[in-house]
Amino acid sequence: MRVVVCCMLLGALFSALEGLDNGLALTPPMGWLAWERFRCDIDCADDPKNCIGQSLFMEMADRMVADGYRDAGYTYVNIDDCWASKQRDANFRLQADPKRFPDGIKNLAKYVHSKGLKLGIYGDFGILTCGGYPGSKFFLQTDAQTFAEWEVDMLKLDGCYSDLSDMDVGYPLMSEFLNKTGRPILYSCSWPAYIVGSGIPNYPKIAKYCNIWRNYADVQDSWDSVINIIEYYGNDTGNFSAVAGPGNFNDPDMLILGDFGLSYQQQRAQMALWAIMASPLFMSTDLRKIDPQSKNLLLNTNVIAINQDPLGIQGKRLVTEGAIEVWARPILPHGSVAFAVLSKSTGGTPTTMGLTLKSLGLSHKQGYNVTEAFDGFAVGMFRPKDTITIQVDPTGVFLAVAKPHH
Ligand SMILES: *[C@@H]1O[C@H](CO)[C@@H](O)[C@H](O)[C@H]1NC(C)=O
Ligand SMILES: *[C@@H]1O[C@H](CO)[C@@H](O)[C@H](O)[C@H]1NC(C)=O
Ligand SMILES: *[C@@H]1O[C@H](CO)[C@@H](O)[C@H](O)[C@H]1NC(C)=O
Repeated sequence: MRVVVCCMLLGALFSALEGLDNGLALTPPMGWLAWERFRCDIDCADDPKNCIGQSLFMEMADRMVADGYRDAGYTYVNIDDCWASKQRDANFRLQADPKRFPDGIKNLAKYVHSKGLKLGIYGDFGILTCGGYPGSKFFLQTDAQTFAEWEVDMLKLDGCYSDLSDMDVGYPLMSEFLNKTGRPILYSCSWPAYIVGSGIPNYPKIAKYCNIWRNYADVQDSWDSVINIIEYYGNDTGNFSAVAGPGNFNDPDMLILGDFGLSYQQQRAQMALWAIMASPLFMSTDLRKIDPQSKNLLLNTNVIAINQDPLGIQGKRLVTEGAIEVWARPILPHGSVAFAVLSKSTGGTPTTMGLTLKSLGLSHKQGYNVTEAFDGFAVGMFRPKDTITIQVDPTGVFLAVAKPHH
């Protein structure tokens, strides 16, 4: 009896130390987010197809259903900055810009829900959003209630125009206000990205209050930007990979496949590394115009399955050798790993390298069946000390899964 009491108490203690538990983001959330591709284009008069207004989000929702993204797991349709009116209403509530969102956010949420999708919105912890729209400072609870009344499913809370020293109290407070609405709202915090300049963020605390959090620079439409983010995640300063798990994930920012800046190989590399890093998968591209190659990468079921592995363990960079990096992530079934060989080489010729599964920490004597992920072909059966010969293209990737052989 005493033993039982002891362990139940221990259990309670442990769950109190764990991450935010609102039943959401048990695997990395997937969806579409406007910012990287559509920015703060508010010119609906001259650019009606691309401006931040209700029709952009309705058209993306339509494409997500018709072209198979929803069924592949991309369920959130997310508004970013520049959606709001510059004035709060008579009750100090946020309101959407009436010209660009004539039917309001609640109706947009209804439309998105009718398609089997979820709606995300954007706010800011400070006095203004990064784009100069009303921030939530002094209105955190009002805004949480407004978003819940609109039946919003996710909130990205940015940190422009705020006092950094308030964040440690304020971001958790918003988490409580969201909880109090009674509506499960996935909470995305920009908190660590703002304080990382002045020290190592308290990641266990951030995971206690946020489902996902941005911890580094915004992704831009270039390979330099993507590789820089990958390096930051490889360095893992502050050991932030350790707090990732069901309900809580580090967010290296949006996927830019289908945009202007990445070659085909580089798009594969972003997709592969985001899968290994257990990253939220938010596309930011024009789904009305995307080319079939990029679309097929975004919809690749083997790569998505690695990203969505139920263990939720964030992969790490294990080896750096010249321009080559080897990354790995434990996945189910137990004893398996997904691994990526990334080449940062710009030398123009593929790199050939030998890799042993032992170097990934694998020791199952009967060996492993190794399957390439993008195309699903069998690479072979390898014992831990056998050499796997891998060829990887410049600024490209080789992604595979190794499962214990029985
Ligand atoms: C609020 O928090 C409690 C305790 O963590 C949790 O059980 C519940 O699901 C949360 N509710 C919402 C709506 O987030
Ligand atoms: C990663 O760490 C190396 C070595 O400390 C450092 O030079 C580099 O700037 C870091 N990269 C990023 C993106 O933080
Ligand atoms: C990172 O966190 C993990 C899990 O808590 C721990 O085992 C490991 O020692 C930590 N590493 C560093 C460098 O702090």
